[in-house]
Amino acid sequence: MIAFKKATDEEQKAAWRIHRARHSWIGDWNAFSHCWIATENGQIVSTLREQFYPGGEFGEKERWIFNVWVRKGWRGKKLGQKLIQFYLDTKDPPIIFLDCRESLEPYYQKLGFTERVSLTPEEKAKILITDEPSQVILCRKKTV
Ligand SMILES: CC(C)(COP(=O)(O)OP(=O)(O)OC[C@H]1O[C@@H](n2cnc3c(N)ncnc32)[C@H](O)[C@@H]1OP(=O)(O)O)[C@@H](O)C(=O)NCCC(=O)NCCS
Repeated sequence: MIAFKKATDEEQKAAWRIHRARHSWIGDWNAFSHCWIATENGQIVSTLREQFYPGGEFGEKERWIFNVWVRKGWRGKKLGQKLIQFYLDTKDPPIIFLDCRESLEPYYQKLGFTERVSLTPEEKAKILITDEPSQVILCRKKTV
């Protein structure tokens, strides 16, 4: 049975090792990173990393999501989307950004993320926007 949870320190290190094995260039995750995971029989089958930037323009309100990943063999079950939804249900920070390939926009749109164009010009001016053409920054703002 799949279980969703915030990772313990040990599980976060294990999640890091998974991503390090995929991309040898990734550095250590800093103290402002927290992982959420899905496990089956103790094995990590999906990850999501939340990153908080202490001096960011939106301060406490802002989070970024990285390292959304589902283990091969577990894909096709919308497990990553379920993990993101679990994170949102648990945390629901007011503003979340993520940086993804254009092809994955519909994947994240189903979870309430919208293109950065929905931000006000002032908000856009404040956030870091990559120039890489294959990447888009999506944003999800709490509707209150
Ligand atoms: C992307 C990823 C997390 C999706 O896993 P998942 O949540 O199990 O998603 P599923 O395979 O069940 O697919 C769910 C939907 O997303 C779509 N999708 C999945 N992977 C996709 C991709 N790479 N590009 C575009 N669409 C994708 C599926 O077509 C499906 O669409 P549908 O709802 O219309 O049927 C997984 O494929 C993965 O780990 N990939 C490698 C790491 C990665 O690319 N992470 C994203 C970083 S932004």
